[in-house]
Amino acid sequence: MALTEKVSISLKKEAGKSYDIVVGEKLFPLIAKDLAEKPLGSSYVLLTDSNLKKLYAKPLMDELKAKGIEVNLVVYQAGEINKTRATKAMIEDKMFGWGLGRDSALIALGGGVCGDMGGFIAATYMRGIPVVQVATSTVAQTDSSVGGKTAIDVPAGKNLIGCFHQPSKVYIDVATLESLSERDYSSGLVELVKHGMIADKEFLDFFIHNQDLIMARKGEGYADLMIKLFAWNNRIKAKVVESDETEKGMRKVLNYGHTLAHSIEKLMNFKLTHGECVSIGIVANARLGLKLGFNSKEESDLQEDVLKKMGLPVRIPKELEPKAIVAKANLDKKARQKQAEYVLLETIGKVKDFGGNYATKISAETVEKVLTELKE
Ligand SMILES: NC(=O)c1ccc[n+]([C@@H]2O[C@H](COP(=O)([O-])OP(=O)(O)OC[C@H]3O[C@@H](n4cnc5c(N)ncnc54)[C@H](O)[C@@H]3O)[C@@H](O)[C@H]2O)c1
Ligand SMILES: [Zn+2]
Repeated sequence: MALTEKVSISLKKEAGKSYDIVVGEKLFPLIAKDLAEKPLGSSYVLLTDSNLKKLYAKPLMDELKAKGIEVNLVVYQAGEINKTRATKAMIEDKMFGWGLGRDSALIALGGGVCGDMGGFIAATYMRGIPVVQVATSTVAQTDSSVGGKTAIDVPAGKNLIGCFHQPSKVYIDVATLESLSERDYSSGLVELVKHGMIADKEFLDFFIHNQDLIMARKGEGYADLMIKLFAWNNRIKAKVVESDETEKGMRKVLNYGHTLAHSIEKLMNFKLTHGECVSIGIVANARLGLKLGFNSKEESDLQEDVLKKMGLPVRIPKELEPKAIVAKANLDKKARQKQAEYVLLETIGKVKDFGGNYATKISAETVEKVLTELKE
């Protein structure tokens, strides 16, 4: 079996608080052992979605029960569409029904929807209980399970109600990736590749060097490779999160490619995954870097090539108008004075610093020009 790796994340502002991210293969026995030896509560609720119930929740329940751990299972219907107040209330009421008190803890077993919603429930249930993230999708394993951002969606928009609630522990089990759809698999790896582009060239080179095996999803050394990749990825993310826990400055760099991605996501009515939109957004940012003279053609092409080889879209969908994409970006909640800001690279592995701000405004005309060049 593959070796497990541990990444520790420590939070300076919450004095003395830190947590481990355990990356490995077939981790369920270890999770049960850890919780038996160092309980986070006297009783647990295991939250998962309808797709993962049979696949992973049952086996994890069995491991926990074998260690004498008291646990109740609650399942929501899979899908972003159910990341709602109503689902949150349903789960909370089940927890009250089981008599779970302040000394209970929540285990979120699933992708980003499960982790975000489970984290938010844990943050407010009886004014806060611990949450353990067991990440099963590439989105969760590369991005959402670490950092403490929790949320649900409301009719006014995605992730608009939520808070920061750091997990007590994170488990990333690469064995669970086996059942993930091709589309979800590639989409979730985008943020990992993005981390290389903004913060660690060596990491991006490592990804490119091993890209065939990563995309083959099986074969000799696959599990070890993914463990190394996710541990490294989380070390990069941990560094950024530790330096800026509540997203005021440095953490902005994680928005690389996201300014336009969010517009495309909305204009396409969420028909494309977040990762697919980020892929297009990164290519657009890379081209902006080239157009503004900050980057070479090689730097821009390298980013486009790696995403293309992952089977991700790298062109603006033909039904979208560049003008509309830019206008939407300028209306985003992150835009300042109705003008969107773009994170750009100084070079691969380093974000450009615009006088203490890691993002810059760019004229609508320039952005539209680049988007027109990128039309399908
Ligand atoms: N908190 C953060 O920092 C952060 C960061 C990025 C994304 N997010 C959130 O994450 C969500 C998207 O995450 P997601 O794509 O993982 O969503 P998800 O949890 O809905 O999972 C996507 C689909 O994959 C299935 N799935 C998950 N793991 C599987 C496995 N191992 N085998 C088979 N099927 C599996 C799920 O059942 C679901 O149908 C969004 O709501 C987004 O807002 C949060
Ligand atoms: Zn993202």
